Amino acid sequence: MWISFAGIITNYKDVKQFLVQKGHKFRSDTDTEIIAKLIKHIHGLHPNYSFRELVEQVIQQLEGAFALCFKSMHFPGEVVATRRGSPLLVGIKTKTKLATDHIPILYSKDVFEFGGRALSTRDRDHRPHGHEIPAHGLARSQSTSEFLPQGDNKEVEYFFASDASAIIEHTDRVIYLLDDDVASVEKEGVLKIHRLKRTLEDTHAREITTLKMEIQQIMKGNFSSFMQKEIFEQPESVVTTMRGRINFDSETVVLGGIKDYIGEIRRCRRLLLIACGTSYNSAIATRQLLEELTELPVMVDLASDFLDRNTPIFRDDVCFFISQSGETADTLMALRYCKQRGALIVGITNTVGSSICRESHCGVHINAGPEIGVASTKAYTSQIISLVMFALMVSEDRISAQPRRSEIIQGLRNLPDQIKEVLELDSKIQEISKKVFEKKSLLVLGRGYNYATCLEGALKIKEITYMHSEGILAGELKHGPLALVDKGMPIIMICTRDNVFVKCMNALQQVTAREGRPILICHKNDQEPQKYGSSVLEVPKTVDCLQGILTVIPLQLVSYHVAVLKGCNVDCPRNLAKSVTVE
Ligand code: G6P
Repeated sequence: MWISFAGIITNYKDVKQFLVQKGHKFRSDTDTEIIAKLIKHIHGLHPNYSFRELVEQVIQQLEGAFALCFKSMHFPGEVVATRRGSPLLVGIKTKTKLATDHIPILYSKDVFEFGGRALSTRDRDHRPHGHEIPAHGLARSQSTSEFLPQGDNKEVEYFFASDASAIIEHTDRVIYLLDDDVASVEKEGVLKIHRLKRTLEDTHAREITTLKMEIQQIMKGNFSSFMQKEIFEQPESVVTTMRGRINFDSETVVLGGIKDYIGEIRRCRRLLLIACGTSYNSAIATRQLLEELTELPVMVDLASDFLDRNTPIFRDDVCFFISQSGETADTLMALRYCKQRGALIVGITNTVGSSICRESHCGVHINAGPEIGVASTKAYTSQIISLVMFALMVSEDRISAQPRRSEIIQGLRNLPDQIKEVLELDSKIQEISKKVFEKKSLLVLGRGYNYATCLEGALKIKEITYMHSEGILAGELKHGPLALVDKGMPIIMICTRDNVFVKCMNALQQVTAREGRPILICHKNDQEPQKYGSSVLEVPKTVDCLQGILTVIPLQLVSYHVAVLKGCNVDCPRNLAKSVTVE
């Protein structure tokens, strides 16, 4: 048995105990092994079951979130794949066009109505294999033959993957499977999708979608890692996020995915921004602007903590779920929690067709392009821009907000060139990284709009360099962190000219008074803070609410260079996953 497994089986101990009692021996402590042993066990009891029926029996016993793909020597030339809570798609490659753009669902419930008579599991043991009841009364032959390629060459190749970027080099046609879909490719090479039960919400067919992704988007090109490539792509990725949405001349912003809901959003009780990791930091980065331009209370929550607290949610709440992958389990569960309570659900994701996209009422695709490096970089800056555009769109009818809106829109217009300027600091940042890469810890200090940069910079450093790093709000310095400061403690401090500049200078002096010599990120040609820094990284000035985009890039580069100097795997840091589809 060959199983490809992503996810977690939460009841694996119970299943294992059951199988041990039945005499099965285990070689590992993994939850994957119980799946292999369970299918073997069921095959022993029901040797007449088809491969697909065996998998259906197995998944009924499993709890958790998983994407599974099975092959077996007992069923040569067949593959069965299924998902629950973890993403899974099927790529289809044919020489000629397919005869249809959707594949009908076949239902195969243990007990179902068949010609007015209930057919039980026992009956099913004696009926021929693959006796399915298709949706809408489609005959089996009809449902499958429709799916075959047109013309003489009937050759079809299938690819099973959790992310489109893994298969785009082979095909751009995919089917996104839904929870509990069981896709099987049988000997004759026909793909079928089964479900155990028919539900009212089910669409009875899965659409074959054509991906818009280009191969070069997922190639490293001249870069040494995807993360480095993605950092350097930011002048373009921010443009694709804004493309077709901002008219810089008329100073209007239209987000097609939420325009029909703007009225409802303006009337809401409060905005909630819920996310994990980097996506959460993008919510911190934009909260202040959202409060200012929407004049609504804005709550920002980590999805896991939001769920732990059983937070009260009301029908007139608007809940934003921010997620690069659109599949993060905690974020998705928080979404379902809020949806059940009647709130309006807005998805902000980078992955078209992801679970968060599908389950939201409306949303914004950040269009940053595929992000392969585990540590998120370009998605972060595009998430900030998407939320800023949302704030601009909601405040369009507020006369008093027009000068501020205009300043931000022009700031967005200049951003791509300013990002290019920041990226030119790369070799200087590499030199600075040489001074810190052997240290144990790195503190990142700032406040106001730059606080999110501190959190995100420290997260990048932790994720890919394994060095301890903490993002500290400069206002909290005297409430504890100051005790850490001495001449040996590496500190990066962000000090740009905004409404908290004076307070930042104050914190900077407190640090230098304890012999701290921070690396400073400040505005170009701003002499005042520079005299306190051991080294200085000068970034161009933009509007306060966009400054975090320009101050985070040097920190993305610091983390990248430190990771390279330490010999760490930049794209795949130990113990972490790009998409955390388990709780
Ligand atoms: C994982 C990734 C992080 C990411 C977080 C949230 O932990 O390693 O880079 O920020 O998940 O992911 P999402 O896809 O929801 O933005």
